[in-house]
Amino acid sequence: MSTADLLVLNAAEVASCAGFSTRAAQGPDQAQLGLVPNGAVAISGDRILEVGPAAEVRRKYAVSDDKIIDADGGVVLPGFVDGHTHLVFAGDRAAEWEARMQGKPYLEILREGGGILNTVRATRQASFDDLLAQARTWLHRCLEHGTTTVEIKSGYGLDRDTEIRMLEVACALDKEEPLDVVATYLGGHVVPPEHTAQRSAYLDLIESTAAEIKAEKLAHFFDVFCEEEAFTLAETERLLNAARDLGFGLKLHAEQFTASGAAALGARLGITSIDHLEHIDDAGLEALAAAETTVAVLLPAVNFHLGLDESAPARKIIDAGVPVALATDFNPGSSFTPSIPMVIALACRLLKMTVAEAIIATTINAAHALSLGTETGSLEPGKRADLIVCDIPDHRWLGYAFGWNPVKTVIAGGERVVG
Ligand code: NIG
Ligand code: FE
Repeated sequence: MSTADLLVLNAAEVASCAGFSTRAAQGPDQAQLGLVPNGAVAISGDRILEVGPAAEVRRKYAVSDDKIIDADGGVVLPGFVDGHTHLVFAGDRAAEWEARMQGKPYLEILREGGGILNTVRATRQASFDDLLAQARTWLHRCLEHGTTTVEIKSGYGLDRDTEIRMLEVACALDKEEPLDVVATYLGGHVVPPEHTAQRSAYLDLIESTAAEIKAEKLAHFFDVFCEEEAFTLAETERLLNAARDLGFGLKLHAEQFTASGAAALGARLGITSIDHLEHIDDAGLEALAAAETTVAVLLPAVNFHLGLDESAPARKIIDAGVPVALATDFNPGSSFTPSIPMVIALACRLLKMTVAEAIIATTINAAHALSLGTETGSLEPGKRADLIVCDIPDHRWLGYAFGWNPVKTVIAGGERVVG
């Protein structure tokens, strides 16, 4: 008999999502869940020891009754990885959302000084403690919906001090909370009003702030919003090159409202993920497919929240062999949900992804979008013990059901933190 600290038993299915730790799942592999019927998981410390049929795991490991987590006929999955959020912010945009629902375009709201700039004004005025308290509340909602790893971007400061304060909040949450938080510097979100007359001065400020952030280890990734009303392709290229020279991992908000060529640029630079892609064209898709390691992060909750008809061409992207991840894009403007189960339900309906593809896209492929594929995102020996139990009889219910939270137990780093 070997010893384990925890055994998860009585699962109708364990979806291990195993086999893609070193390379994200692509094409047909995107639907390979590694299902173990009547499966069990053994955990030691913060690591997974074994995943297999319950009878075998039970025979091998001795634990006392209080170390058994009874899945009670539910489905066990890796903890969700939400690889794109703007979770640190102040204020809200309920009034703008109502106007948007009555037909006012998102980019028009931004042009008039609202939208992202509305949240920037509120965030600049908020203290570290206020930002931390609000972000913690939302982070707990993410955790309750099964997210055990979350990326958090800055980008509502757009000045040195507020950007750094936002990232300090993200780093504090990483230390204090059971979730793993990955911080991203998004100084390149939009150009703030004080710099619109001289944009290059703002690019200089982004670069000098990035150097400080890197030195203080406040962010792992660097991101730019390449779009009309945000940054041009040439500006994006300049910023990404500077960030790469500083040693950041790279991400991009690309092709959201207009086709800009940003996907091809990102692919050429071999960036870790390209996010949004509603308007990616065939040339961009080919470039992305050729890049091989870049993950496409699709965000169907944005289109749902903004009431937009066009969705990212997920089927074409998967068929081209590009690994697809899904994320909430949680933020007060374009996607006000912290729920990955909701995103899976939307991906099946709006992006025509299968439930299995959507599960891979929110676990192991999402881990790759954060360069964490060998650490989390699947249930395999040696990986971090991040897993959830859902109160559903089979995995398809994750897409089939929506609007209620199916997650009943969350284990993050081997600790039972919900349920
Ligand atoms: O990912 N596209 C740009 N940035 C965010 C929206 C942020 C906001 O509206 O506050 C996004 O959708
Ligand atoms: Fe975003």
